[in-house]
Formats: sequence, structure tokens, C-alpha cells
Amino acid sequence: MKKLIAGNWKMNGSLAANETLIQGLLAGLANSAPSCDIALCVPSVYIAQVQSLLADSNAIAVGSQNVSQHENGAYTGDVSAEMLAEVGVRYSLCGHSERRQHQAENDTHVAIKAQRALMAGITPIVCVGETLSEREAEMAEVVVKRQLAAVIRLLGSSIDKIIVAYEPVWAIGTGRTATPEQAQQMHAVLRAQLQSATENADKIRLLYGGSMNAGNAAELLAQPDINGGLVGGASLKSADFLAIIAAAR
Ligand code: 13P
Repeated sequence: MKKLIAGNWKMNGSLAANETLIQGLLAGLANSAPSCDIALCVPSVYIAQVQSLLADSNAIAVGSQNVSQHENGAYTGDVSAEMLAEVGVRYSLCGHSERRQHQAENDTHVAIKAQRALMAGITPIVCVGETLSEREAEMAEVVVKRQLAAVIRLLGSSIDKIIVAYEPVWAIGTGRTATPEQAQQMHAVLRAQLQSATENADKIRLLYGGSMNAGNAAELLAQPDINGGLVGGASLKSADFLAIIAAAR
């Protein structure tokens, strides 16, 4: 399966910094064609700028970091799936742990967001992952399976159109990566759960996220059930992100 390397810029960037970063990526990709799909999930205000910087390149798709669970109307500050689709967004992160934590998004919201994205023709990247205390209490599998189950329940047979990102919260932005064995083990759990929901489970891309960098990407991406990466900090430097792209074979 073709891997996907998706950058998540989070709330970082500026017009000037984005331009430098995109130019660096395009220059690097001009030298060697990537063997994976690439996406950048950027702050909504920069979607148009990034698209215009990417104009002559179809190597990188643009994604959003969130999508409203509402269709349209009186939801001040929200951006709808239809709006994102209209401006050419291809992927939307749904239920990133930072939104679960700081914006009180729960499993139900996340499932509805994924459904809204799909209905608008956008591929949802549904994020799941346990906290450190949940892992220490040996609840990691229970939590992650509960998070995915809510999405499976709502989407039914459309579940094969999503991407899942396993991002252990304790590995995000901490420099503490899950070992390839820990990541593979959870990905296998997720794959098995998807297998009981759809016969197409083997075609669903499962991304790993959490301190993925140029040094550890190859080993993580070599695991049988890891089909790509969701990259935070290391997606903000073109050389680092290019090295991760190169590691995705
Ligand atoms: P870091 O790569 O900075 O740990 O972030 C991971 C992440 O949250 C991507 O969505």
C-alpha cells in the first residue's frame, strides 16, 4: 500500500515562514520523486496561501487540522466540510488529541466530524491515542478501541474510506517516540478491529504519529501495519520532513 506522510503544522507558521518551508519542500521533491503520498495539514487561514505556493506541483495535497461537526449556520468560528472541500482541501484531521484535550472533543464529535468530511468528499484522518496514565493503567488498547469504535459505529460500511492515525499522547511533542514494536502492536489491534467491520481493512492506511523524525522514521515505517506518518514538529523544517518522506518506501 502506498504510504502517506502527512505534516501537521499545528498552530505554527507565518506567511514568510510558510513560503520558505514550501519552497524548500518543492526544491527537495524536484530532485527525487517521492514514492509516498504527501499532505500538509495547515492552519485554515493559510490554506489558500499554501495552495497557491503549491500551484504547479501536484505532489503535495493540502489538509485541514479540524472540520466542524455542524453542516452550516450559526456556529461562529467553525469551518464546514463543504467550505473546506470547496477550496480544495483533500484531508481533514478529526479528533487530534490536542482538540480532544483543549476543545473538549469527544468520541461522538469526532465520529460526526469524520462523517461530515466524507460527505463532502474529504478523507478524514481520525486520530486516536492513549494518555500516559491510561498506558500505565494498562488501558491503552481499551481507550484506543473505544475511540475507533465510535467512528465505525457511525460510518458503517464507509469506514474503509477513512485514514486512522495512532498518536499516543505521551509521545506527542515529547521526543519520546513509541518503539516500533509498541506502535506496531497497537496498529495490529486497530487493523483487527477494522477487519471485524469491513472486508477492506487491509486497504485502510494506519499512520503513526508522535515524535516521528528523520532518525526514527524508517524503522517505524518498516512495520507491517504502519502505512505512513502524521508528523508534527519535524514537518516544520523542510530538510527533516523531506528525510521522513524519503524513508517512506
Ligand atoms: P510531534 O511530531 O511534534 O510529536 O506531533 C505529533 C502530532 O501530534 C501530529 O499530529
